[in-house]
Amino acid sequence: MGFKLQFFVGALLALGGYFIFSSYFSVPEKVEVDEKSWFGPGQPRKDDETIRPFKISVPDEVLNDLKNRLQSARISHEPLEDSNNFYYGFNSRYLQQIREYWLKSYSWKKHEDQLNSFSHFKTQIGGIQVHFIHQKPPSSYQKTYPLLIVHGWPGNVYEFYKIIPLLTDPKKHGISSEIAFEVVAPSIPGYGWSESPHKTGYSQIEAANTFQRLMTRLRFNKYYLQGGDWGSIITVNMARLWPEKILGLHLNMVPIMPFTTFKCAFIHFMGSIFPSLFFSSPNVGPDHNAIEIFKRITIETGYMHLQATRPDTVGTSLNDSPIGLAAYILEKFSVWTNLKENRDFPDGALTKKFTMDELLTIIMVYWVNGNIVNSQRFYREHFLDTRHMQLNSHYITIPVGHASGLNELFDRNPVELSRCQLNITHYNEYYFGHFAAFEEPKILAQDVLDFVKTLQ
Ligand SMILES: *[C@@H]1O[C@H](CO)[C@@H](O)[C@H](O)[C@H]1NC(C)=O
Repeated sequence: MGFKLQFFVGALLALGGYFIFSSYFSVPEKVEVDEKSWFGPGQPRKDDETIRPFKISVPDEVLNDLKNRLQSARISHEPLEDSNNFYYGFNSRYLQQIREYWLKSYSWKKHEDQLNSFSHFKTQIGGIQVHFIHQKPPSSYQKTYPLLIVHGWPGNVYEFYKIIPLLTDPKKHGISSEIAFEVVAPSIPGYGWSESPHKTGYSQIEAANTFQRLMTRLRFNKYYLQGGDWGSIITVNMARLWPEKILGLHLNMVPIMPFTTFKCAFIHFMGSIFPSLFFSSPNVGPDHNAIEIFKRITIETGYMHLQATRPDTVGTSLNDSPIGLAAYILEKFSVWTNLKENRDFPDGALTKKFTMDELLTIIMVYWVNGNIVNSQRFYREHFLDTRHMQLNSHYITIPVGHASGLNELFDRNPVELSRCQLNITHYNEYYFGHFAAFEEPKILAQDVLDFVKTLQ
């Protein structure tokens, strides 16, 4: 790739960025959020504010129906002779094996029991039954803090089943710490066991609104936040909208727009030509340049375009076929865990970091709740809610910790860029991918604890 072409593309992007940037001058500073917004069915009513314990219990009919569908699933396409890997998408040969395992070895009941070992609750917020796990630490810790952790797509709260015990009782799991967390892990409405919004407009800003209302209802006036994927966008929104309630924000994905300020656009542009002059990390390599980033994003975000435009269309077959659902979601767990390497393997290296049981349980949470379409609509709402454009230009002053995954697909912004928008006081790089809590729970838990300790 010639230097001239890079320069040209960089200049084009900078110009584009300038126009986006200048358009902000015309938008109002204040972002309006209705703290009584209603997305339940019918006319707005008063919420039933009781907090009820909840237990997961999937009826046998659902499991029998799943079995029938798996048995009669048609996987009749063969991978290309010279492409027994993930380069054309999910490898159908491996999909056959997954079906066998799902039918013969996988037990939902076992994972349901494991999930039910946590304390689950539901409460109505803005007309929606919001599901959350609420796990308290033992009394032996000197200090405990409330921590809200938020998942993303195509994950769900199950992603946190390994990290929650590490956060609530680190000492028990070999992490030396005098502090522990009281963890609240909600299912985003439309995901897991939370009810789906019944009206258009339920964006990441509304989810942020729902979760701050949830924390208020649980009587937490000040708390920490942690998020990745949509979870990072939701928690960043919370930090921007209700900073007085947030003690600190920890992210394993930093959702920043490099063009929201002129300085940031400049660093982004110059840094893509001379990385070592602008970026301190030795891990910002030659692939941090406008062309490589553009290529990567274009190749890997087809799903996003579909979901951001016609979620109900793409979701119909996924909601009808467990095999289709598994291929669609697990391909993301392969590629997003390690973009550079995993596609080369016949099995997408899926079980290098996760067990087949864990992967299938992620799928099961979508399947048994029948909410893949609802989860995909969240992309549509993201791009329709223009308040995001305004919010993105607000600098976050509360302290932010970032555990940056070196195999992360969407988050390879150097810290110098993240600092344009966030007050990053704690930063580390690790060899993990997009699903950090699921892939490396101990590393992530340790980093969250270290971050909070710096704020004591
Ligand atoms: C960042 O957070 C730290 C810790 O709370 C604070 O001392 C500092 O003033 C903040 N910086 C900015 C630029 O807001």
